[in-house]
Amino acid sequence: MSQINDYPNLFSLAGKTAVVTGGSRGLGLHAATGLLHAGVITLIITSRKADACASAVSSLQALFPSANVSAIPADLSNPAEVTRFVTAVTAQVPCVHILMANAGATWGAPLDSHPDTAFAKVMDLNVRSVFNLIREMLPLLEKAAVSGDPARVITVGSVAGLHIGNVGDHGTYGYAASKAAVHHMTKHLAVAMGPRGILVNAIAPGWFATKMASGLLGLSGGEELQAKVSPNRRLGRPEDIVGVVVWLSSKAAGHINGAVIPVDGGMHLVPASKM
Ligand SMILES: NC(=O)c1ccc[n+]([C@@H]2O[C@H](COP(=O)([O-])OP(=O)(O)OC[C@H]3O[C@@H](n4cnc5c(N)ncnc54)[C@H](OP(=O)(O)O)[C@@H]3O)[C@@H](O)[C@H]2O)c1
Repeated sequence: MSQINDYPNLFSLAGKTAVVTGGSRGLGLHAATGLLHAGVITLIITSRKADACASAVSSLQALFPSANVSAIPADLSNPAEVTRFVTAVTAQVPCVHILMANAGATWGAPLDSHPDTAFAKVMDLNVRSVFNLIREMLPLLEKAAVSGDPARVITVGSVAGLHIGNVGDHGTYGYAASKAAVHHMTKHLAVAMGPRGILVNAIAPGWFATKMASGLLGLSGGEELQAKVSPNRRLGRPEDIVGVVVWLSSKAAGHINGAVIPVDGGMHLVPASKM
Protein backbone atom coordinates (compact mmCIF):
# COMPACT_ATOMS: atom_id res chain seq x y z
CA MET A 1 0.00 0.00 0.00
CA SER A 2 1.29 3.45 -0.84
CA GLN A 3 2.36 5.75 1.94
CA ILE A 4 -0.26 8.29 3.00
CA ASN A 5 1.38 11.68 2.78
CA ASP A 6 0.15 14.57 4.88
CA TYR A 7 -3.29 14.74 3.23
CA PRO A 8 -4.63 17.55 5.46
CA ASN A 9 -1.95 19.87 4.05
CA LEU A 10 -2.30 18.84 0.43
CA PHE A 11 -3.57 22.29 -0.59
CA SER A 12 -1.71 24.34 2.00
CA LEU A 13 0.74 27.01 0.84
CA ALA A 14 1.75 27.90 4.38
CA GLY A 15 4.96 29.90 4.55
CA LYS A 16 5.48 30.19 0.79
CA THR A 17 6.63 33.19 -1.22
CA ALA A 18 4.68 34.10 -4.36
CA VAL A 19 5.05 36.62 -7.16
CA VAL A 20 2.02 37.59 -9.27
CA THR A 21 2.43 39.83 -12.29
CA GLY A 22 -0.59 41.92 -13.20
CA GLY A 23 -1.60 41.45 -9.57
CA SER A 24 -3.20 44.89 -9.18
CA ARG A 25 -6.61 43.86 -10.57
CA GLY A 26 -8.57 41.22 -12.45
CA LEU A 27 -7.42 37.62 -12.50
CA GLY A 28 -4.06 38.47 -10.93
CA LEU A 29 -5.71 40.09 -7.93
CA HIS A 30 -8.11 37.12 -7.58
CA ALA A 31 -5.13 34.75 -7.65
CA ALA A 32 -3.13 36.86 -5.18
CA THR A 33 -6.06 36.84 -2.76
CA GLY A 34 -6.45 33.07 -3.07
CA LEU A 35 -2.74 32.42 -2.58
CA LEU A 36 -2.80 34.43 0.66
CA HIS A 37 -5.90 32.55 1.83
CA ALA A 38 -4.02 29.29 1.23
CA GLY A 39 -1.13 30.41 3.44
CA VAL A 40 1.33 32.34 1.27
CA ILE A 41 3.22 34.52 3.72
CA THR A 42 5.18 36.76 1.35
CA LEU A 43 3.50 38.11 -1.76
CA ILE A 44 4.95 40.49 -4.33
CA ILE A 45 2.72 41.89 -7.04
CA THR A 46 3.55 44.06 -10.00
CA SER A 47 1.82 46.15 -12.65
CA ARG A 48 2.72 49.38 -14.46
CA LYS A 49 0.71 51.80 -12.33
CA ALA A 50 2.20 52.51 -8.90
CA ASP A 51 -1.11 53.79 -7.51
CA ALA A 52 -3.01 50.67 -8.62
CA CYS A 53 -0.28 48.50 -7.07
CA ALA A 54 -0.41 50.49 -3.81
CA SER A 55 -4.17 50.22 -3.57
CA ALA A 56 -4.11 46.44 -4.20
CA VAL A 57 -1.35 46.02 -1.60
CA SER A 58 -3.27 47.98 1.01
CA SER A 59 -6.48 45.99 0.52
CA LEU A 60 -4.62 42.66 0.55
CA GLN A 61 -2.58 43.66 3.59
CA ALA A 62 -5.78 44.63 5.42
CA LEU A 63 -7.26 41.20 4.67
CA PHE A 64 -4.08 39.34 5.66
CA PRO A 65 -2.32 41.41 8.35
CA SER A 66 0.22 38.72 9.20
CA ALA A 67 1.39 38.35 5.60
CA ASN A 68 4.08 40.46 4.00
CA VAL A 69 2.49 42.02 0.91
CA SER A 70 4.35 44.43 -1.34
CA ALA A 71 4.48 45.72 -4.89
CA ILE A 72 7.24 46.57 -7.33
CA PRO A 73 5.67 48.54 -10.18
CA ALA A 74 7.21 47.74 -13.58
CA ASP A 75 6.33 47.79 -17.26
CA LEU A 76 7.02 44.18 -18.13
CA SER A 77 6.66 44.79 -21.87
CA ASN A 78 10.16 46.28 -21.68
CA PRO A 79 12.97 43.70 -21.22
CA ALA A 80 15.02 46.18 -19.14
CA GLU A 81 12.06 46.56 -16.81
CA VAL A 82 11.78 42.78 -16.44
CA THR A 83 15.43 42.75 -15.35
CA ARG A 84 14.89 45.65 -12.96
CA PHE A 85 11.84 43.88 -11.51
CA VAL A 86 13.68 40.59 -10.97
CA THR A 87 16.65 42.42 -9.41
CA ALA A 88 14.29 44.17 -7.00
CA VAL A 89 12.55 40.88 -6.13
CA THR A 90 15.97 39.27 -5.53
CA ALA A 91 16.89 42.08 -3.14
CA GLN A 92 13.65 41.49 -1.23
CA VAL A 93 13.32 37.69 -0.90
CA PRO A 94 15.76 34.76 -0.87
CA CYS A 95 13.60 32.53 -3.07
CA VAL A 96 10.28 32.33 -4.91
CA HIS A 97 8.08 29.23 -4.55
CA ILE A 98 5.29 30.37 -6.87
CA LEU A 99 5.49 32.63 -9.92
CA MET A 100 2.27 33.49 -11.73
CA ALA A 101 3.11 35.19 -15.03
CA ASN A 102 -0.29 36.73 -15.54
CA ALA A 103 0.15 40.27 -16.90
CA GLY A 104 -1.17 40.49 -20.42
CA ALA A 105 -2.86 42.71 -22.97
CA THR A 106 -5.20 42.25 -25.89
CA TRP A 107 -6.14 44.06 -29.09
CA GLY A 108 -9.14 43.61 -31.33
CA ALA A 109 -9.37 45.12 -34.82
CA PRO A 110 -10.62 44.17 -38.30
CA LEU A 111 -8.23 41.97 -40.27
CA ASP A 112 -7.55 44.49 -43.06
CA SER A 113 -6.56 47.24 -40.67
CA HIS A 114 -5.07 45.15 -37.86
CA PRO A 115 -1.99 47.24 -36.93
CA ASP A 116 1.48 45.75 -36.88
CA THR A 117 2.22 47.82 -33.78
CA ALA A 118 -0.68 46.21 -31.90
CA PHE A 119 0.40 42.71 -32.94
CA ALA A 120 3.96 43.43 -31.77
CA LYS A 121 2.80 44.98 -28.48
CA VAL A 122 0.65 41.99 -27.62
CA MET A 123 3.36 39.47 -28.54
CA ASP A 124 5.97 41.43 -26.56
CA LEU A 125 4.00 41.50 -23.32
CA ASN A 126 2.15 38.19 -23.58
CA VAL A 127 4.98 35.98 -24.84
CA ARG A 128 8.43 37.57 -24.92
CA SER A 129 8.19 39.17 -21.49
CA VAL A 130 6.75 35.98 -19.97
CA PHE A 131 9.76 34.06 -21.29
CA ASN A 132 12.22 36.70 -20.10
CA LEU A 133 10.59 36.86 -16.68
CA ILE A 134 10.64 33.09 -16.15
CA ARG A 135 14.25 32.81 -17.39
CA GLU A 136 15.44 35.61 -15.13
CA MET A 137 13.53 34.22 -12.14
CA LEU A 138 15.14 30.77 -12.51
CA PRO A 139 17.73 31.27 -9.72
CA LEU A 140 15.01 32.35 -7.26
CA LEU A 141 12.76 29.45 -8.25
CA GLU A 142 15.60 26.93 -8.03
CA LYS A 143 16.41 28.14 -4.53
CA ALA A 144 12.79 27.49 -3.49
CA ALA A 145 12.67 24.00 -4.97
CA VAL A 146 13.00 21.27 -2.40
CA SER A 147 12.92 17.55 -2.93
CA GLY A 148 9.30 16.41 -3.01
CA ASP A 149 7.90 19.93 -3.33
CA PRO A 150 8.99 21.65 -6.52
CA ALA A 151 8.65 25.38 -7.17
CA ARG A 152 5.78 26.34 -9.49
CA VAL A 153 5.34 28.59 -12.48
CA ILE A 154 1.82 29.28 -13.71
CA THR A 155 1.49 30.99 -17.07
CA VAL A 156 -1.78 32.51 -18.20
CA GLY A 157 -2.90 31.52 -21.67
CA SER A 158 -6.49 31.73 -22.86
CA VAL A 159 -9.23 29.77 -24.58
CA ALA A 160 -8.41 32.19 -27.40
CA GLY A 161 -5.25 30.11 -27.84
CA LEU A 162 -7.23 26.85 -27.93
CA HIS A 163 -10.16 27.52 -30.23
CA ILE A 164 -11.36 29.99 -32.85
CA GLY A 165 -13.76 32.22 -30.99
CA ASN A 166 -16.10 34.71 -32.55
CA VAL A 167 -15.47 38.40 -32.02
CA GLY A 168 -16.95 39.52 -35.34
CA ASP A 169 -15.07 42.38 -36.96
CA HIS A 170 -12.74 42.79 -34.02
CA GLY A 171 -10.48 39.80 -34.42
CA THR A 172 -7.84 39.33 -31.75
CA TYR A 173 -5.31 37.90 -34.20
CA GLY A 174 -2.16 38.80 -32.29
CA TYR A 175 -3.73 37.97 -28.94
CA ALA A 176 -4.93 34.52 -30.01
CA ALA A 177 -1.50 33.76 -31.52
CA SER A 178 0.22 35.01 -28.36
CA LYS A 179 -1.87 32.77 -26.11
CA ALA A 180 -1.31 29.68 -28.31
CA ALA A 181 2.39 30.55 -28.06
CA VAL A 182 2.15 30.76 -24.27
CA HIS A 183 0.61 27.28 -24.17
CA HIS A 184 3.34 25.78 -26.33
CA MET A 185 6.13 27.66 -24.56
CA THR A 186 4.78 26.38 -21.23
CA LYS A 187 5.21 22.78 -22.41
CA HIS A 188 8.80 23.46 -23.52
CA LEU A 189 9.60 25.11 -20.19
CA ALA A 190 8.00 22.24 -18.27
CA VAL A 191 10.37 19.77 -19.91
CA ALA A 192 13.41 22.04 -19.44
CA MET A 193 12.65 23.12 -15.88
CA GLY A 194 11.11 19.94 -14.42
CA PRO A 195 14.55 18.36 -13.84
CA ARG A 196 15.59 21.59 -12.07
CA GLY A 197 12.78 21.20 -9.53
CA ILE A 198 10.27 23.59 -11.09
CA LEU A 199 6.87 22.62 -12.50
CA VAL A 200 5.41 24.83 -15.23
CA ASN A 201 1.73 24.80 -16.14
CA ALA A 202 -0.63 27.08 -18.00
CA ILE A 203 -4.20 28.02 -17.27
CA ALA A 204 -6.41 28.93 -20.21
CA PRO A 205 -9.28 31.06 -18.89
CA GLY A 206 -12.50 31.64 -20.77
CA TRP A 207 -14.52 34.82 -20.21
CA PHE A 208 -14.04 36.57 -16.88
CA ALA A 209 -15.59 40.00 -16.48
CA THR A 210 -12.40 42.01 -15.97
CA LYS A 211 -11.26 45.36 -17.32
CA MET A 212 -9.47 43.63 -20.19
CA ALA A 213 -12.45 41.50 -21.16
CA SER A 214 -15.16 44.14 -20.91
CA GLY A 215 -14.74 45.68 -24.38
CA LEU A 216 -14.51 42.35 -26.18
CA LEU A 217 -17.36 40.89 -24.14
CA GLY A 218 -19.52 43.76 -25.36
CA LEU A 219 -18.50 43.12 -28.98
CA SER A 220 -19.28 39.42 -28.51
CA GLY A 221 -22.89 39.97 -27.49
CA GLY A 222 -22.38 40.72 -23.81
CA GLU A 223 -22.10 38.75 -20.59
CA GLU A 224 -25.57 37.25 -20.70
CA LEU A 225 -25.21 35.85 -24.21
CA GLN A 226 -21.72 34.47 -23.56
CA ALA A 227 -22.94 32.85 -20.34
CA LYS A 228 -25.81 31.22 -22.25
CA VAL A 229 -23.43 29.83 -24.88
CA SER A 230 -21.08 28.34 -22.30
CA PRO A 231 -21.75 24.64 -21.55
CA ASN A 232 -22.00 25.40 -17.81
CA ARG A 233 -24.14 28.50 -18.51
CA ARG A 234 -22.00 31.11 -16.77
CA LEU A 235 -18.87 33.20 -17.04
CA GLY A 236 -15.83 32.68 -14.85
CA ARG A 237 -15.85 33.79 -11.22
CA PRO A 238 -12.97 34.80 -8.95
CA GLU A 239 -13.10 31.47 -7.09
CA ASP A 240 -12.58 29.59 -10.37
CA ILE A 241 -9.17 31.26 -10.76
CA VAL A 242 -8.36 30.87 -7.08
CA GLY A 243 -9.17 27.15 -7.16
CA VAL A 244 -6.94 26.29 -10.08
CA VAL A 245 -4.06 28.58 -9.04
CA VAL A 246 -3.99 27.29 -5.45
CA TRP A 247 -4.20 23.70 -6.68
CA LEU A 248 -1.39 24.16 -9.21
CA SER A 249 0.75 25.80 -6.51
CA SER A 250 0.14 23.06 -3.95
CA LYS A 251 1.45 19.58 -3.20
CA ALA A 252 -1.81 18.27 -4.67
CA ALA A 253 -0.50 19.21 -8.14
CA GLY A 254 3.02 17.92 -7.51
CA HIS A 255 2.84 15.58 -10.53
CA ILE A 256 1.25 18.06 -12.95
CA ASN A 257 3.77 19.54 -15.37
CA GLY A 258 3.33 21.03 -18.84
CA ALA A 259 -0.47 20.99 -18.64
CA VAL A 260 -2.70 23.60 -20.26
CA ILE A 261 -5.84 23.72 -18.16
CA PRO A 262 -8.94 25.37 -19.61
CA VAL A 263 -10.85 27.31 -16.94
CA ASP A 264 -13.85 28.07 -19.07
CA GLY A 265 -16.83 25.86 -18.22
CA GLY A 266 -16.14 23.89 -21.42
CA MET A 267 -16.32 26.91 -23.74
CA HIS A 268 -13.30 25.81 -25.79
CA LEU A 269 -15.34 22.82 -26.95
CA VAL A 270 -18.15 24.91 -28.42
CA PRO A 271 -17.89 25.40 -32.21
CA ALA A 272 -17.57 29.04 -33.33
CA SER A 273 -20.80 28.65 -35.31
CA LYS A 274 -22.71 28.18 -32.04
CA MET A 275 -21.29 31.30 -30.35
N1 LIG B 1 -10.51 38.26 -18.42
C1 LIG B 1 -10.60 37.29 -19.28
O1 LIG B 1 -11.71 36.96 -19.76
C2 LIG B 1 -9.36 36.52 -19.70
C3 LIG B 1 -9.56 35.39 -20.48
C4 LIG B 1 -8.44 34.66 -20.87
C5 LIG B 1 -7.17 35.05 -20.49
N2 LIG B 1 -7.03 36.18 -19.73
C6 LIG B 1 -5.65 36.54 -19.36
O2 LIG B 1 -5.57 36.78 -17.98
C7 LIG B 1 -4.53 37.70 -17.71
C8 LIG B 1 -5.07 38.82 -16.82
O3 LIG B 1 -6.10 39.48 -17.52
P1 LIG B 1 -7.28 40.26 -16.82
O4 LIG B 1 -8.52 39.90 -17.52
O5 LIG B 1 -7.18 40.10 -15.35
O6 LIG B 1 -6.90 41.74 -17.29
P2 LIG B 1 -6.89 43.13 -16.52
O7 LIG B 1 -7.99 43.22 -15.55
O8 LIG B 1 -6.80 44.13 -17.60
O9 LIG B 1 -5.52 43.07 -15.70
C9 LIG B 1 -4.28 43.11 -16.37
C10 LIG B 1 -3.18 43.29 -15.34
O10 LIG B 1 -1.93 43.32 -16.02
C11 LIG B 1 -1.26 44.56 -15.72
N3 LIG B 1 -0.48 44.95 -16.88
C12 LIG B 1 -0.94 45.30 -18.11
N4 LIG B 1 0.08 45.64 -18.92
C13 LIG B 1 1.21 45.51 -18.16
C14 LIG B 1 2.59 45.72 -18.42
N5 LIG B 1 3.01 46.17 -19.61
N6 LIG B 1 3.46 45.48 -17.43
C15 LIG B 1 3.05 45.05 -16.21
N7 LIG B 1 1.77 44.83 -15.91
C16 LIG B 1 0.85 45.07 -16.88
C17 LIG B 1 -2.40 45.54 -15.38
O11 LIG B 1 -2.01 46.64 -14.57
P3 LIG B 1 -1.46 48.05 -15.16
O12 LIG B 1 -2.50 48.56 -16.10
O13 LIG B 1 -1.25 48.88 -13.94
O14 LIG B 1 -0.17 47.73 -15.83
C18 LIG B 1 -3.32 44.61 -14.59
O15 LIG B 1 -2.82 44.43 -13.29
C19 LIG B 1 -4.02 38.18 -19.06
O16 LIG B 1 -2.86 37.49 -19.43
C20 LIG B 1 -5.17 37.83 -20.00
O17 LIG B 1 -4.75 37.65 -21.32
C21 LIG B 1 -8.09 36.93 -19.32
